[in-house]
Amino acid sequence: MVTIKIDGKEYKVDEKKNLIDAVKEVGTDIPYFCYHPSLSIVGMCRMCLIEIEGVPKIQAACNTQVKEGLSIITKSKRVIEAREGTMEFLLANHPLDCPVCDKAGECDLQDNAFSAGKGVSRFEFEKRNIPQEEIGNNLMINHNRCIVCFRCVRFEQELVGEYNLGLFERGYHSIIGLAKEEPIAHNYQGALSDICPTGALLNHKTLFKSRVWWYKTAKSVCHGCSTGCNIETNVRDGKMYRYMTRENPAEGMYFLCDKGRFDLDWMNENRLFAYYEKGVPGESVTIIPKIVNKVKNAKRVAVVGGAHESNENLKLIKTNIQAIAKDPVFEARIIESQYKAPEQIDFLLTTDPHPNTKGAIDSGFVSSSNFTSIIKDFNENMIDVLFVIKEDIPANITGKGTVVVLHTNITASTKDADFAVPIKCFAEQSGTFTNKKGLKQNFETAMNPIQGLPSSGDFFTRLKQEATKKEEFAIGNH
Ligand code: SF4
Ligand code: SF4
Ligand code: FES
Repeated sequence: MVTIKIDGKEYKVDEKKNLIDAVKEVGTDIPYFCYHPSLSIVGMCRMCLIEIEGVPKIQAACNTQVKEGLSIITKSKRVIEAREGTMEFLLANHPLDCPVCDKAGECDLQDNAFSAGKGVSRFEFEKRNIPQEEIGNNLMINHNRCIVCFRCVRFEQELVGEYNLGLFERGYHSIIGLAKEEPIAHNYQGALSDICPTGALLNHKTLFKSRVWWYKTAKSVCHGCSTGCNIETNVRDGKMYRYMTRENPAEGMYFLCDKGRFDLDWMNENRLFAYYEKGVPGESVTIIPKIVNKVKNAKRVAVVGGAHESNENLKLIKTNIQAIAKDPVFEARIIESQYKAPEQIDFLLTTDPHPNTKGAIDSGFVSSSNFTSIIKDFNENMIDVLFVIKEDIPANITGKGTVVVLHTNITASTKDADFAVPIKCFAEQSGTFTNKKGLKQNFETAMNPIQGLPSSGDFFTRLKQEATKKEEFAIGNH
């Protein structure tokens, strides 16, 4: 830590940080566009201007490292005028698009125009007008809104490892464009749109879906793989509309991949809301006692899957089934990647599409054999009740036992199962997932479930209550 002076007051700050981050830590904001904590510093936008005592010219805060004894001024008349000048240049050609721009309400250009701009324009000429272009299979660019901050180009090159975008022409004519013939096809087109500080980069999948201030937000964790990226859920009219990045600098989490970000429709469509018996809808009051009966008379019960469930649900599943079944076996690892150390597909996405494999392993959802031998035992009638939690029934099932599928959605497996049980999705409850690194992260309730819909943990609690109720009744009658 070093001591620096900010607007005449002394503060202790981390010497590894640049001025923007160090100053933010002690509660003073310096406006910026091109700086991003996980990208190289280019000092291109000239928005973060400050005065440094002893240095005659005004300086950019983003490329100034803090050091002992530094004294900076962030609010002088000279600084305010310099930032107003930058804003005036940036807005000279910027269209008055806010009423129709998807970024409105969460746009850095809007925010900085309000906080550091002049509020009036002296630009009397016709604004530059360049038609928008499709540059990715889910990405378009509106050149008129671009402020040439170079974040998108740096993100692609430095984190995605691709060189699709470049800066063409000079000065007034500068535009960001495709450096290749083929459109961008990588897994980070949503992140490109996120990282753009204006509404220049837009995704088709969310275009014109809603104004951002209509969303109800909650802190959550992506369900798409074992990385467990931090997200903010955006829900409107009971439907999941969007995931947005929830920055977590301590864990280096600033981005989301497209696979996780856009995998939302399953929460809004084709949901399983009824209990089923052999593909026919039934009622919980008749189906639950039938399942309890099977469990109580079973030689052995197996519970497979569960790596999509929270740690809290897994605990309830395990303790309740152990209370009513003889020597049950648990196995959450149903695909090969869950048996291995986490493997990366790209800089975020892993080969394990489960958010809680680590949590399931820590909760004891591991068998001494493996998933394949559990299925073999079921096929040889050594296991006679098989619970499958939010997974497909394995294709090679031939055993005569009972298959109970718990799922959030109607699938071929819920139709084929002896019994199908509807459960809440993760966004309809709170809990924790443990990511591939062993980090236990909370997620909040984002959507209201339909009335009476149980979580997987609630369902197993109800099974135990049903089993215990019958025993008490029997004892009472003797
Ligand atoms: S498209 Fe957006 S991120 Fe890229 S340079 Fe323009 S303003 Fe910056
Ligand atoms: S990397 Fe995994 S956790 Fe992160 S956004 Fe993609 S799917 Fe979700
Ligand atoms: S943030 Fe410093 S120049 Fe852009």
